[in-house]
Amino acid sequence: MKQHTAAPPCTLVIFGIAGDLVKRLLYPAICNLESEGLLDENFCIVGVAKEKYTNPSFRAQLIKDVKAFIHDPVIRKVAIKLVSRVYYISGDFSDSKVYVTLKNKLKTLETKKASQNYLFYFAAPPEFMTIIASQLGKAKLLTEEGDYFRRIVVEKPFGHDLASAKQLNQELLSVASENQIFRIDHFLGKETVQNIMAFRFSNGLFEPIWNRLYIDHVQISVTETLGVEARGNYYDHVGALRDMVPNHLFQMLSLITMEPPIAFTPDYIQNEKEKVLQAVQLMTPEQVLAQTVRGQYEGYRLEPDVAADSSTETYVALKLHLDNWRWLHVPFYLRTGKKLKSRTSEIIIQFKSGPAALFNSCKKDIPPNLLRIYIQPDEGISLQFNAKVPGPNLELGQVDMKFKYSDYFGIKPQTGYETILYDCMCGDHLLFKKADMVETEWALVQPILDVWSALTPREFPNYPQASWGPADADELIQKDGRAWIL
Ligand code: BG6
Repeated sequence: MKQHTAAPPCTLVIFGIAGDLVKRLLYPAICNLESEGLLDENFCIVGVAKEKYTNPSFRAQLIKDVKAFIHDPVIRKVAIKLVSRVYYISGDFSDSKVYVTLKNKLKTLETKKASQNYLFYFAAPPEFMTIIASQLGKAKLLTEEGDYFRRIVVEKPFGHDLASAKQLNQELLSVASENQIFRIDHFLGKETVQNIMAFRFSNGLFEPIWNRLYIDHVQISVTETLGVEARGNYYDHVGALRDMVPNHLFQMLSLITMEPPIAFTPDYIQNEKEKVLQAVQLMTPEQVLAQTVRGQYEGYRLEPDVAADSSTETYVALKLHLDNWRWLHVPFYLRTGKKLKSRTSEIIIQFKSGPAALFNSCKKDIPPNLLRIYIQPDEGISLQFNAKVPGPNLELGQVDMKFKYSDYFGIKPQTGYETILYDCMCGDHLLFKKADMVETEWALVQPILDVWSALTPREFPNYPQASWGPADADELIQKDGRAWIL
């Protein structure tokens, strides 16, 4: 968190407040902010959802959720107290009467000192995004008056492909200005992801060698042990590529590859990220076949709300190239999947090896230096290099210099949404995506979506649970003489 002062007063309106995201992540994040004194004293929440709760019954449910999802006793106490500032409206998102009720509720709360700054958080299913935006527009709830702000926070998925993302942008921009819109990628709320820029640009040591002359290749892996759990309905229409790549993985890719911004301001940073994503080579259909792999775990088709003959991928691996001065010919290998052997989000920079001439007596090849950025769990950074094994012979062994966040900065209860919510309240766009960035991300995966939809995979399911994914993914990297680093 950049500042440690309370965010400006605001009323948070959550569409879809009865959903999973709120109980697991958003409400705990709000309570973490409250416990740090980062919310205004009159902050309150108005929730809208179709479930038939009343104010008291919703609060009672929220207390049950707090007990299930907030484990820290101090935060739990804060959470239970905050429940008295949560109000519930039951209704259909497409019903204009709901917005009249909402407007009246907001006015009533203002008489009780609630703020006239409104933050509208769309935690609703994707098909409702434009409906909610247009209803808010019609109800004049997005019109900024005086110094009061009206902001929209949009969760992913932001569209289903390039065309739908463009349409969603257009529709949002017809009721609000770009400045009022905050497109979320919750990976950007993770401290370790934010640290990538700090690490690269505040240390003189790494940036001079951060290019094609010294880097052999980069791996970005987000592997999960969980399956689709209760999200079959959503996931079976989406799949691993849409769910993870044109958002979380591309955001990490852009932070690793961007040029230094002129200043740490949203515009400069977003421009650099956008520029580097535009340098990613668009794949031809032949490249899609040669440079992408999709997989589905065994048992996926038996998950609740998943089609019995589903061809949705639960795993994806890609090889990308960037056409720019810094990164020409450096391959970037990206992979993500569900029901894999272990849970880790990690970026690995493999440097080119030094000349082996001096060590000809060593039997093995000299292992390359690796810089590993651990996003989660066990957030940290390590540098792997070679050292002489003690003894009479000149033998090399790999050793590790390791920095763990928890050793230096302790660990606070965090969901990843704290910074994001706080920044929305402060109007800071640094961690959010502008319309063009979202479209650039989709444009990069669109050729893959096109080829994949034309060629239904016949070999699905193709990887066992608790494995490292399909064998083809190993081949993808092995044919370049490299291997996934575990
Ligand atoms: C979400 C995806 O955006 O990110 C999920 O929809 C995925 O499928 C999740 O599991 C991973 O995020 P985290 O923060 O749990 O690593």
